Amino acid sequence: MNTTPTTTITPCPDGPLLIRGDFAVLTAPGREETATERRVVALCRCGKTGIPPLCDGSHRAVGFRAPAPPPTEDQPTDPAEPSDND
Ligand code: FES
Repeated sequence: MNTTPTTTITPCPDGPLLIRGDFAVLTAPGREETATERRVVALCRCGKTGIPPLCDGSHRAVGFRAPAPPPTEDQPTDPAEPSDND
């Protein structure tokens, strides 16, 4: 069985969501698609873009800070807290 996903979504630190693969971006239900010719798009998650739903780099100007990703099993939630491996 092939477990490689055909589409991936990757959150950029303090920036957009990068979507790679085969996808369609709809501006609203039933509306025209946008950016369908691309294999990679950056979707805004700061809410300040001038070209929604795409990122235009405005997140840098507004100092957007994304929530921290959830900790992995081998990574403590608090960096000051020792892990089981310490
Ligand atoms: S994430 Fe880049 S403009 Fe919003």
